[in-house]
Amino acid sequence: MAKRILICSGKGGAGKSTAAVCLAHALLARGQRVLLIDCDAGLRTLDLLTGLGAEAVYTWLDAAESVCAPSDALLKTEDGRLGLLLPPPADAALPDETAFSAVLGAVEGDFDFCLLDAPAGLAGFVPTLCCVSNAAVAVATPDAVCVRAASALGALLFAHIPEQEVRLLLNRFDYFQLRAHECLSPDSAVTQSGMRLIGAIPDDPHLRRLAEGDRPLASTRAAFARVAARLLGEDVEFKVKKVRC
Ligand SMILES: Nc1ncnc2c1ncn2[C@@H]1O[C@H](COP(=O)(O)OP(=O)(O)OP(=O)(O)O)[C@@H](O)[C@H]1O
Ligand SMILES: [Mg+2]
Repeated sequence: MAKRILICSGKGGAGKSTAAVCLAHALLARGQRVLLIDCDAGLRTLDLLTGLGAEAVYTWLDAAESVCAPSDALLKTEDGRLGLLLPPPADAALPDETAFSAVLGAVEGDFDFCLLDAPAGLAGFVPTLCCVSNAAVAVATPDAVCVRAASALGALLFAHIPEQEVRLLLNRFDYFQLRAHECLSPDSAVTQSGMRLIGAIPDDPHLRRLAEGDRPLASTRAAFARVAARLLGEDVEFKVKKVRC
């Protein structure tokens, strides 16, 4: 079975979809095979960010309701190492944990990681996603509002996922803001969220144009590579600790 990692956030717009795609590419670069699952019903994003999905016919809900075989809903790159499942429209009645997990189980055999890009918040489909995941990366920008929302989400995550598998990803982290005391420090974010850090991603204007084919900065790709290495169990030093402020 692939490792299922829920990419989630308490607050909307924290960078979940962007992080899911960049992390998928970082894992691919490490020889891993990755299945992305866009779980945001009515607000799908990952087809645009991956370039997959132009000819998509079915969603994971179609597979869960046996309208199609799970393999018919699976979109893949030519080499088959990156897969994508798209979500249904907003007004659809969503499946329960058993039906959704069955769809994942039917297609994840060819992959090492499933990255589940969650909708924002704690309600709706998010509790079901917590039930089917074995790990979580909570994405938060380094500000009090977003980190408090991550902390609230943590209560839900810790109820379903082992504590050591719930990690915080700081997004749009800016060393100069930290030095000017204009954002939360990683230590404060960890303390306030109650989650261990898995990485810090810089603010990178190129990420806003991923759908247009832009590439992240080398420093951004390196930051995601470090997160990928940590997900693979490697002990990678946190560069953030070297910052004096
Ligand atoms: N590190 C970053 N640097 C600069 N811009 C970023 C970064 N991460 C994400 N963004 C931008 O922030 C916006 C929101 O990102 P994204 O759609 O990934 O968030 P989300 O958490 O998936 O949102 P939603 O809650 O709506 O699903 C996008 O315009 C994206 O390009
Ligand atoms: Mg999103």
